[in-house]
Amino acid sequence: MNAPGKLISFIVWAIVNGNCAVSAEANCGRLEERLLFRKDLFTEPAEYPWIGLLVQRRDLDQKFESAECNVAIVGESHVLTTASCVRRFNNRPELVAVRLGIWDGENEPGQQYICNDRGFCVPGPVQYLVDAITMHPLADKDTGNNDIAILRLSQRINMTAYIQPVCLQPTLEPASWTSMDFHYGGFHEYDIKKGKGSVIAISRQYCNNETGTPPPENQFCGYPEFRVAFYKGAPMMGINVEHDVPSRFYLVGLLAKNVDAGQTLMTVFQDIRPVRHWILDNINSSSS
Ligand SMILES: *[C@@H]1O[C@H](CO)[C@@H](O)[C@H](O)[C@H]1NC(C)=O
Ligand SMILES: *[C@@H]1O[C@H](CO)[C@@H](O)[C@H](O)[C@H]1NC(C)=O
Ligand SMILES: *[C@@H]1O[C@H](CO)[C@@H](O)[C@H](O)[C@H]1NC(C)=O
Repeated sequence: MNAPGKLISFIVWAIVNGNCAVSAEANCGRLEERLLFRKDLFTEPAEYPWIGLLVQRRDLDQKFESAECNVAIVGESHVLTTASCVRRFNNRPELVAVRLGIWDGENEPGQQYICNDRGFCVPGPVQYLVDAITMHPLADKDTGNNDIAILRLSQRINMTAYIQPVCLQPTLEPASWTSMDFHYGGFHEYDIKKGKGSVIAISRQYCNNETGTPPPENQFCGYPEFRVAFYKGAPMMGINVEHDVPSRFYLVGLLAKNVDAGQTLMTVFQDIRPVRHWILDNINSSSS
């Protein structure tokens, strides 16, 4: 397809997806009900727009490459990932960056949009440098407890249809996650595109039986629908229902590890509930 043709399909795509600037407070967890029941293994380009990829470099003069970790946007200039993803960079935030608005994990930032040979175009990823890495004060390398970190980016995020935060608060806090179905997404090792799946949260006892070890404190296990090992940091989401309509995704957990349990691959998630105040305090105290 020639260049004007590509541009037109991009514009059509952008209009269909409402490509306009939105603010972080007013808009989080965008949800389209039609996408909830698709059994696709990867997302549409603008689906789960809070998910990005962590990239790393060995030194300041090196290029950034995938750190094989997902990040989730939770504020105007903050993303979450696991502590185990960033511990090795501690005190050197200049060695990490995040790529937001990314759908094909191999796309490099710098291009305004990227088209395939059929003229289907998506915006290129946007890279943000990291100013500060804050691991949870009780994150424990040995036990894996509280495996969560917050990254402050060097600029406010320019929100688009492809780059938006997930909500942090459920409208109604369930007494327990156990036996609830959740959606999750992120990059993983089997495909270059941002993937998706669903998982059912299981009890600590059953997880212990299946995996041979109970999950660390403040973590819980999930039984995924498909055996695909997502990178750490993949966000797990619940749905806020308003007026009988599924309206927004809120963050329930972050993938902390995958555990091989024979036939299945069990997923262990960091629970967001016990650390939600810490996240909000961090976002509030360091926003300008
Ligand atoms: C965000 O938008 C502003 C204003 O258009 C621009 O100066 C800045 O470079 C953008 N940031 C990124 C990371 O693209
Ligand atoms: C765990 O395994 C024990 C021994 O096989 C069994 O008695 C128990 O019911 C199992 N618990 C769960 C929650 O599956
Ligand atoms: C953080 O700021 C938001 C918005 O100003 C507010 O709703 C929230 O309660 C604050 N959270 C904490 C923990 O202070």
